[in-house]
Amino acid sequence: MRRFRSSRGIMEVIASLAVALTLLSSTSLCAQTPPPPIMMGTAWYLEQWPESRWDADLTLMQQAGIRMVRVGEFAWSRMEPSEGHYDLDWLDRAVSAASKHGIYTVVGTPTAAPPAWLTQKYPETLRVDEEGHRLQHGNRQQFNFANPKYRELARKIAEQLAKRFGHNAYVLGWQIDNEYSDISFDPDTKAQFQQWLKARYGTLDNLNTRWTTSYWSETIFDWSQIPIQTQYGNPGLLLAWKRFVSDTWRSYQKNQLDVIRANSDPKQFITTNTMGWYDGFDHYVVEKDLDLAAWDDYVGTGHLDPAKNGFAHDLTRGFKGKNFWVMETQPGSVNWSPANNALDKGEVRAMAWHAIGHGADVVSYWQWRSALNGQEQYHGTLLGADGTPVPLYSEAQQIGKEFDKARAMLAGTSVKSEVAILHSYESRWAIDWQRHNKSYDPAAELVSYYGPLRAISQSIDVVEPVASLSQYKLVVAPGLNVLSDVAAKNLADYVQQGGHLVLGQRSAMKDEDNGLQPQRQPGPLTDLLGGRVEQYYALVDPVMIEGKFGSGPSKWWAELLSANDKDTEVLETYGKSNGWLDGKPAAITRKVGKGRITYIGAWLDGSAMAAAAKWMTGVSGVKPALGAVPEGVEVYPRYGDHGVVYILVNLSKAEQTVSLPSAMNDVLEGGSKQSIKLPVYGVAVLSK
Ligand code: GLA
Repeated sequence: MRRFRSSRGIMEVIASLAVALTLLSSTSLCAQTPPPPIMMGTAWYLEQWPESRWDADLTLMQQAGIRMVRVGEFAWSRMEPSEGHYDLDWLDRAVSAASKHGIYTVVGTPTAAPPAWLTQKYPETLRVDEEGHRLQHGNRQQFNFANPKYRELARKIAEQLAKRFGHNAYVLGWQIDNEYSDISFDPDTKAQFQQWLKARYGTLDNLNTRWTTSYWSETIFDWSQIPIQTQYGNPGLLLAWKRFVSDTWRSYQKNQLDVIRANSDPKQFITTNTMGWYDGFDHYVVEKDLDLAAWDDYVGTGHLDPAKNGFAHDLTRGFKGKNFWVMETQPGSVNWSPANNALDKGEVRAMAWHAIGHGADVVSYWQWRSALNGQEQYHGTLLGADGTPVPLYSEAQQIGKEFDKARAMLAGTSVKSEVAILHSYESRWAIDWQRHNKSYDPAAELVSYYGPLRAISQSIDVVEPVASLSQYKLVVAPGLNVLSDVAAKNLADYVQQGGHLVLGQRSAMKDEDNGLQPQRQPGPLTDLLGGRVEQYYALVDPVMIEGKFGSGPSKWWAELLSANDKDTEVLETYGKSNGWLDGKPAAITRKVGKGRITYIGAWLDGSAMAAAAKWMTGVSGVKPALGAVPEGVEVYPRYGDHGVVYILVNLSKAEQTVSLPSAMNDVLEGGSKQSIKLPVYGVAVLSK
C-alpha cells in the first residue's frame, strides 16, 4: 500500500482532512480555522480526569492554539479492563469532543504500559533484566518485547483501536507504543537470538571464522552455547546482539503496524516516538516500516544546545528523508534530569521554531496538565494540577498564533541541503565498546563537525552510509568505524562521480562483523586516498597541530597518516609529541578526477574545526543558504514549490541585527524588510 511518501503528501492529507471536517461539522470551529500542516500539539491524558472536565481542557487548548492531541498511549487498563473486554467508547467521545474545538487526534497504542491483570495472568510477558530479575507491575516498559503472548495481546488491543478509529476523519494517525527502549534477557529471548544467528550466519564455521572465535577458546560448537553479551565480549557477538535487538523491535512494531494498516485508511500515518541520540537499537532498521518519523525532544538540565539538538532533528529527518514530528517536547522543564531547571522565558518558543526550521511539521508539548499522582508529578506542563494555566501557557499561546500566521507559507516546504553527515549506529556502538580513551565520545565527535559545518552551510542532512549521496557537494563521515562493503562502494562511487568525502578519526577500521579490516584505515578506501593511517595513539596530553586549519591543540586521539601518492596533499601536521607523531601528517587530501577524498586524523579544537569547515565547504563549492549572519543566529531554510522560507532564531546572548541579501516579507510581523532585529531568543520567519 502506498502511504505518505513525502511531507507534501502529509500536508495535502491534513488539508483534505480539514476540508472533510469542515463539511462534516458545519458548527465546528474547524470551519473557521485554517488547515494545519504546521501544528502545535499536546499529550492529553484524559483518562486521568472526569469526563465533565474535558470540555474545559479542550477550550483552553483551543485558546492556546493547540491543533493536535496525542492520547491513549498509557491507557491500556482503561481500554481493556479485563481480558477481551474492550471499552473504547470514552476515547471515541474524546476524539469527537476534540474535533469540536478544531483539534485532531493521534491515537497511541497503549502497549508500553500493560495492565496488572495481564502480567499477573501471563508472567512470561514481563521482561527479565540483564541481572536475571523479572520485572513487576507498577511502572511502565516492564513488558518483554520478544514474548509471543505479549505480542498476541498487543496486536489484539491495536486491532480494536484500529477498527474503532481507523476511518475516523478526526484521527490523523497512529503512534505505536512509546519510546522503545528496555529489552529482555530471558531464556526464550536468548533462544530467539541463537535462531537469529543461525539464519544470519548459516553455519557455525562461518560464524566462528567471522568472529575469530579461536581467540580465548571462544569457539562455538552448538548454537545453544552462544551467550548474550552487551558491553564486554567478542566484538562480533556484541554487534550481532544489537542487530538482533533492532530486528526484534522492528518485528515487535510490525506486529501492531500490520493490524493497524489492515484496518485503517491509508491516509492515516503510522509512527512511533524515538529519542534523538538514543542508540539502543538501529533506528534505520526500525523506521523502515513507518510512514513518518517522530521524536521526543528534551533538553533536560541546562538550555537548548543548537548543535546537539539540531543534529538530533536532522538525524530524525533522515530516517524517512522528509519532514518529521516532534511528538513530545518540554514545556519549561522535565523531572528526570540532575537539575530540572526551566527553560528561560522565550526559550520554549525559540526551541519550537528551531524544530520547525529543521523540518518538523508538528511540535507537541508533554504534557498538558500535571497528574495529581503518578511518577511524574514535577514535570513541566501547560496547566497546573488545579487545571488553570501556568505562566508558560501564554508563551505557548504566542507559538500557536505564530504557527497560524506562518502555516500557509510553510505548507509544502521541506529542508534541502548541500552537505551530508554520515551517521552509523554500528560505528557509534563499536567505538563505545572499545573507546580506547575513555574521553573519546563518538557523539561528541559528530557534533564537533556538525556545529561549524552547519554555521557555514545553514543546512545539513544526516544520513546513513548507504544513503544516496549524489545530491550533496560535501559528505562528511566522522567516526565511520564500521564500514560495510556496500557502504564502502557507495562512498567510493560518490568520490569518483565528483563528490568530496571527508573521513574523520577512526574511520573504516572495522568490517561488517566488527572485525578489523585486513587493511589499515581507511580500509577499502585506502587506494582512493593515496594514503593511510600508519598508527593510532590514544592521548593523555594534547598534541599541537599546524597547517591549513591553523595551529592549536588536538586531544584524545591522534592518527599518524602517510601520503604515498603524488597527488595526495598534506593539510595539517603534528607538532612535537611522543616522538612517533612529531612532524607527521595529521590531515591529508587527494583530488580524484572532479572529486576529492580527505582524511582528518586529529581531533580538531573549536578554531581548527571552524577553519577546516571553511576549507571543506570552500573547496566543495558549498554556499550558505541565506548569507552571513551574526554568530549565534541560526538560519533554517525550508524550500517549497513557491520559493524559500527562512526561519531565523537568535540563540546568542545579545540582540542581533541581520542584514538580508534582498528585501523579504516578514511573515510574523508583516511588511517588507531589508534587515531584521532579533532580541535574545527572537524569531523571524521570512519569505522571498
Ligand atoms: C518521555 C515519555 C513521556 C514522559 C516524558 C517526560 O518522553 O515518552 O511519557 O515520560 O518522557 O519527560
